[in-house]
Amino acid sequence: MVELLPLSDIEPQAVEHLLDAAFGTDRFGRTAYRIRAGMAPVPALSFAAVERGALVGTIQCWPVAHHAADGIATPLVMVGPVAVRPDLQRSGHGRLLMAHMLAAAETGADSALMMIGDPEYYGRFFGFAAAATAAWELPGPYEKHRLLARAINGHDLPTSAGMIGPR
Ligand SMILES: CC(C)(COP(=O)(O)OP(=O)(O)OC[C@H]1O[C@@H](n2cnc3c(N)ncnc32)[C@H](O)[C@@H]1OP(=O)(O)O)[C@@H](O)C(=O)NCCC(=O)NCCS
Repeated sequence: MVELLPLSDIEPQAVEHLLDAAFGTDRFGRTAYRIRAGMAPVPALSFAAVERGALVGTIQCWPVAHHAADGIATPLVMVGPVAVRPDLQRSGHGRLLMAHMLAAAETGADSALMMIGDPEYYGRFFGFAAAATAAWELPGPYEKHRLLARAINGHDLPTSAGMIGPR
């Protein structure tokens, strides 16, 4: 039986260990890490999956913004990493974590959602798409088709050119 808890209930070192296992210890060079450097996750949208006392999955969300050239900043919530312990992947934990986060975001998100991820997963199951993000920029390399976004809780997506960075 999987229990979903606030991520803040979990020892930070256990979370880092899980992320190393899912993404590798070289994960810190990724563009997503550059965007959220120095930030704390959004507590109400970050969760842990725990099974028989062991951490088996995590989802974290971050307060970022789309900064347009005219100086207008549109807040966004950056979703990810979503990580499942490698030996338990493809048994529904990722979908459970995403569904739990989206349910919380439906009423609690203060802005639309964005992420860097596989559209074959996040589009297929959760309604994320790259259509709105074509003119966005990130502070590092990324594949355009993997820059995804989703409106939620009445918050629309900016579609103009703009850099994603801290709020
Ligand atoms: C990506 C991840 C969060 C998915 O969670 P999960 O618990 O393994 O997957 P779920 O059980 O929720 O979903 C399984 C379904 O999603 C599909 N799926 C899983 N990961 C996928 C991916 N990266 N791309 C496309 N489809 C994927 C599976 O094929 C399966 O589809 P099916 O039901 O038709 O067989 C997890 O595998 C993980 O932590 N991976 C390591 C990190 C990573 O590679 N992330 C890449 C995405 S950013």
